Amino acid sequence: MSSALRLAVIGGDGTGPEVVAEGLKVLGAAARKFDIEVSTEDFNVSGDRYLARGGDPKTPSIPVITSEEIQGFRRFDAIYLGAIGHPDIAPGILEKGLLLRMRFELDQYINLRPVKLYPGVDCPLKDKGPKDIDFVVVRENTEDLYCGAGGSLRRGSPQEIATQESITTRFGVERCCRYAFELARQRKARGYKGMLTLVHKTNVLTYVGDLWFRTFEEVGRADYPDIQRDYNHVDACCMWFVKNPEYYDVVVTSNLFGDIITDLGAMIQGGMGIAAGGNLNPDPGGVSMFEPIGGSAPKYTGKNVINPMAAIGAMAMLLQQTGRHKSDESLTRAGDAVEAAIAQACPRLPSLSAGRMGMGTTEVGDLVVSLL
Ligand code: IPM
Ligand code: MN
Repeated sequence: MSSALRLAVIGGDGTGPEVVAEGLKVLGAAARKFDIEVSTEDFNVSGDRYLARGGDPKTPSIPVITSEEIQGFRRFDAIYLGAIGHPDIAPGILEKGLLLRMRFELDQYINLRPVKLYPGVDCPLKDKGPKDIDFVVVRENTEDLYCGAGGSLRRGSPQEIATQESITTRFGVERCCRYAFELARQRKARGYKGMLTLVHKTNVLTYVGDLWFRTFEEVGRADYPDIQRDYNHVDACCMWFVKNPEYYDVVVTSNLFGDIITDLGAMIQGGMGIAAGGNLNPDPGGVSMFEPIGGSAPKYTGKNVINPMAAIGAMAMLLQQTGRHKSDESLTRAGDAVEAAIAQACPRLPSLSAGRMGMGTTEVGDLVVSLL
């Protein structure tokens, strides 16, 4: 019996559609090889659509996407996203109006961000190579300062007050820690260290840090005694990512800390041209969304110079994770094959930066296909 994969595709803004096209090209080739029947549906959700419908570029005036549209994604096995971001639209409108709403309304409570240096990729860290940089960050994706709770008073006056509340629940922390412990266990079976590092700031965030720390310890002690528990303050973690990245196996952290440390992670694995992530709802019936971590890069749009490798990496993750979620080995194997082709393609690019790859966007896609 052949496998089936139903994908919702959101190319989005800027270079998003260009890189998504390469990811889909690679998917097509992998599908032929692994006998997967793929169906895709394109969704025009973007800053352009927001403006075309009369959305105010300065303040959120109409929905970027409706709840009905979001709920409609539940029919799919996964969502493949290019990039959202428009130079004429004020910061926050598209981020909150699309990306964060998708995460919240589809309860994608894990943001999975592997930090892996492929062979031949330029690393800014002195004397570090692929064997040193190979860990995964599990970022909580539905709580913390991202809830949007807060407000301001006397705005624009000298007496202005603003609050932004960080909301953390035992439920949210526990499900995230459990996911991370499971992942550490799966990796241990594949020869990794079997260590989970909690990253927080317990010395200053004494309430929220305490909730994270106790939950982490309790869950680990009771159900994952085979996994070594480790703790770093977030500032120290930034230092170690640079100094001793080989130390890490799996890292688990809260939403904002995870946002910040994964940009650092992306840089040590070769930059935004290669970094990919997944917004996962690992529960039964959950639908997950995969994306390159980089943005819409307006200045490179339509020039065939942007690097699609991160989007192709997001496609590899999509296949691997969806395969696990649906217990479909062909999908997982197809994802592993795409990842292996990326690892072989990387040494052939003189640089992963836009415009310096020695070939165009579409040629990078072709190269990965040829190595599959
Ligand atoms: C990311 C991005 C988003 C985040 C922005 C665009 C809202 O930086 O996915 O890391 O902060 O989560
Ligand atoms: Mn970010």
